[in-house]
Amino acid sequence: MTEKRARFGSRFGIIMAAAGSAVGLGNIWRFPVETGNNGGAAFILIYLISVVILGIPLMAAEFFVGRHARSNTATAYRTLSKSPFWGNLGFFGVIGATLIMSYYIVVAGWVLKYMVLSAEGLLTTVGKGQETTTVFEGIFNRFSTDPVNPIIYMVLFIIICHISIVMGVQKGIEKFSKIFMPVLFAILIVLTIFSLFAPGAAEGLSFLFHPDFSKLNSKSILCAVGQSFYSLSLCMGCLCTYASYFGKDVNMVKSAISISIIDSFVAIMAGMIIFPAVFSANIDPQAGPSLVFIALPSAFLQAFGEWPIICYMVGVLFYALLVLATLTSAISLHEVPTAYISESWHIKRSYAATIVTVVCIIFGIFCSLSMGIMGEIKLFDKTIFDLFDYTTTTLMLPLSGILITIFIGWKVKRSLFVDELTNHGTIKSSIVTFILFVLRYIAPFALVITFLNGLGLLDF
Ligand code: TRP
Repeated sequence: MTEKRARFGSRFGIIMAAAGSAVGLGNIWRFPVETGNNGGAAFILIYLISVVILGIPLMAAEFFVGRHARSNTATAYRTLSKSPFWGNLGFFGVIGATLIMSYYIVVAGWVLKYMVLSAEGLLTTVGKGQETTTVFEGIFNRFSTDPVNPIIYMVLFIIICHISIVMGVQKGIEKFSKIFMPVLFAILIVLTIFSLFAPGAAEGLSFLFHPDFSKLNSKSILCAVGQSFYSLSLCMGCLCTYASYFGKDVNMVKSAISISIIDSFVAIMAGMIIFPAVFSANIDPQAGPSLVFIALPSAFLQAFGEWPIICYMVGVLFYALLVLATLTSAISLHEVPTAYISESWHIKRSYAATIVTVVCIIFGIFCSLSMGIMGEIKLFDKTIFDLFDYTTTTLMLPLSGILITIFIGWKVKRSLFVDELTNHGTIKSSIVTFILFVLRYIAPFALVITFLNGLGLLDF
């Protein structure tokens, strides 16, 4: 079994695959929205602190579990603990990843549709001088509430994920990431250069880089912590599963640092693309989740409308960027249950992937319909889509984080952890001591507060 297990082929492949998991809707969709809602630069600063202090140690911890056990995440935790409570922590991740995937593919479908729309000239056919925001609002609302169209795009999207998963770890996941991620970086750079020429560039950049600490409150700090966990793909088994395909010589602490730097860099670049356009168009940066589908096309049109070709390119490139980012993240989410099912049930990878794809499509259909005809069905005042998002991101993610940090920090033998992260003493271990300290004393505390806040039990 151990001999036959798949492996990533190169260090570059590992970084691209894991960064591909991290860079996703969280960076380009959620991050700008949260930054807008929480006042800009000060939020980003807290976000970065959270990445360094909490995110990197937790990522290293997940890498430890995955590479140590060299198995899917559910089995991995069971190899570390016989206790049914701690041993099932990995299974919790399998469920969490499947649920995240189920609503993630809905938004991914919208993104795919917008790439097609912008290639057809979405940004150049809407006449200038029209009430553009209203026009884009109409387009988005009509599409997202439609009972059929978004589901078609969602299925199309998951089929692409499915294909890459079935092609295997090295020939599918790694190869796709090695192609998609560099293209994504190239697009990011081109778009950033364009946006520096937008009329609102100075204002947008100042919003991003001049911290106004008076805008910060305890809620925004917790929001930054939650966002950093989501963005780094932590706690749901993605990185643990990927680490099970790492070779023995990979420096996992260094990899965790590189991946976190890439992820934060992309988030900030996405802000640099979005906010100059948003300020050029005098749009409220607090536009909320519809930002990239309603406010942003309108903002691009107003910022670049004078130059139709550039405007067209910005639109196409931006949505292509989102598609690539979303794909590599969704692939990592899909791999978590696929690896689990195929290894635990001893069935072929392609069969396991098919089960996951079908389950996610079924859940995804409900999430998608809850934007329109099933919008009236609510639980705790939330639509099905919101319920999936809230349960996974706000509840399961910090809860899993609390348990993982306590488990690794307090239950697992220290020497096992240090040994694995230092590749049996061949690399320096001073950071490992810091990581253990965080896992024991800081992260559980920070995550408990984030979790209680998510439950609405803290009143600031
Ligand atoms: N990190 C991805 C993003 O930013 C989403 C994602 C992938 C994720 N795997 C995850 C989020 C695991 C939480 C847990 O879009």
